[in-house]
Amino acid sequence: MADYDYDVLVIGSGPGGYVAAIRAAQLGLKTACADGRATLGGTCLNVGCIPSKAMLHASEYFDAAANGMMAKMGIDVTPKLNLPAMHAQRIDAVKGLTGGIEFLFKKNKVDWLKGYAAFTGKDSVEIAGKTYRAKNIIIATGSSVTPLPGVDVDNDKQIIVDSTGALELAKVPDHMVVIGGGVIGLELGSVWRRLGAKVTCVEFLDQILPGMDADIRKDANRIFKKQGIEFKLKTKVTGAAVKGKKAVLTLEPAAGGDAETLEADVVLVSIGRRPNTDGLALDKAGLSVNARGQIETGHDFGTQVPGIWAIGDVIPGPMLAHKAEDEGIACAENIAGQTGIVNHDVIPSVVYTWPEIAGVGLTEEQARERAQSPEGIKVGKFPMAGNSRAKTNHEPDGFVKIIADAKTDRVLGVWCIASVAGTMIAQAAQAMEFGATSEDIAYTCHAHPTHSEAIKEAAMAVTGKPIHV
Ligand code: FAD
Ligand code: NAI
Repeated sequence: MADYDYDVLVIGSGPGGYVAAIRAAQLGLKTACADGRATLGGTCLNVGCIPSKAMLHASEYFDAAANGMMAKMGIDVTPKLNLPAMHAQRIDAVKGLTGGIEFLFKKNKVDWLKGYAAFTGKDSVEIAGKTYRAKNIIIATGSSVTPLPGVDVDNDKQIIVDSTGALELAKVPDHMVVIGGGVIGLELGSVWRRLGAKVTCVEFLDQILPGMDADIRKDANRIFKKQGIEFKLKTKVTGAAVKGKKAVLTLEPAAGGDAETLEADVVLVSIGRRPNTDGLALDKAGLSVNARGQIETGHDFGTQVPGIWAIGDVIPGPMLAHKAEDEGIACAENIAGQTGIVNHDVIPSVVYTWPEIAGVGLTEEQARERAQSPEGIKVGKFPMAGNSRAKTNHEPDGFVKIIADAKTDRVLGVWCIASVAGTMIAQAAQAMEFGATSEDIAYTCHAHPTHSEAIKEAAMAVTGKPIHV
């Protein structure tokens, strides 16, 4: 250890990096974490999960007052938007949580090295002009917005923006065009739709939310349409021009054909994210990236170079904060000589719209394709309209779907649309982690009246016997 500055040096302080650093320190390793951002917490805490949820939560209340939901419950109010105050509570949430990571670093004796790191060798990096040697280096540099050629983002102008710009708009746009019907487009499109904007979503594919179960994608599309979001599916944006305070987009059918134009006050570019490896000088460490720009690792999160590890958005897999966190813990435990494992087959994903959309495991399409037994799969579905709590709360939309192996009954995937789907999916993930069958879920006592009872009834439906439909 004598000639190393640290046992573990983590590059990047997002949910992958900061969690890895704290776990490494908890395990007795001398640890530092480098980040050049003004505050710790990475994309997630600064410009991602947390500020977006702050705006989603606040705009949901506004919408409930504006769309008659509160009136339905006997509360007559006419909401008046105070956008600066809504932004202030978002900024406060971020400040509290990023400051919390700084506190945890101090508590666990993790050094924050302020600056961006670049490799100078297999076990050394330069940060703010100083070189540090570490026995283990974890790359947790995350991801950033994928640019769309011809549509140049300028967050300062607030006309063509990315997710960071869309979180900070000083005014509700009259018309917002969202490019990409994925998670960011739907979450941030929902925020501004609720606050009064007309929202048009342009999606290249024939359906929104790629990667999710087909029934879920279809129903989500129907629900968002009903809420007022307009969709232009199978359409691509080929260019944008800013004219005064507006953007004029050129759209073409994805399969080719006549172009049309679409005017917007704000355009949100949300066509995906790509791993951050520029500026790391990976070649100096003997590392390379794959065709998608990601750093490949083994199951232990070790790269092709011993002593260098990688986790989170910069490696293959879903770009999700909880996946990054779990990888951070497992990676630190592996460095400490323990056995850290992440089950990548059971990573839940949640879209925090209203209602929420959540899933874990295989989609019905994937399960049919990969069926282990010749009998194939069984599917149980239960509508939220049959769930007493959802019905009482005036939340008729959505359903739960459970996919199980036809022979073994083992649960392969669970999908739901419900107001609290993000919370409901946790029990499904836990059941799958324990190798549960649909019968195990069906015979587990669920509290009444809760939305989670819909998961129990969907499990009962796998073998054809739900009670409330
Ligand atoms: P990041 O959080 O991206 O952190 C990487 C850090 O590394 C950054 O702080 C960066 O400054 C730093 N860095 C980069 N290069 C260097 C370098 N050379 N030296 C030092 N530091 C460096 N996921 C969810 O699970 N739930 C959500 O609700 C959710 N909402 C999101 C909303 C938005 C608008 C966005 C954009 C993303 C959202 N995500 C969400 C995705 C989530 O933010 C990412 O999956 C997660 O942050 C990845 O964590 P990470 O640690 O890999 O990297
Ligand atoms: P995404 O991958 O979810 O969706 C991008 C969408 O854009 C896709 O539907 C794609 O078909 C479409 N698209 C691509 N090119 C296009 C083009 N030229 N024209 C029109 N449409 C085009 O990416 P998104 O929404 O940018 O989010 C990035 C990542 O951030 C996601 O992978 C997600 O994991 C993460 N995230 C997670 C959240 C959560 O967990 N709730 C919230 C926000 C982001």
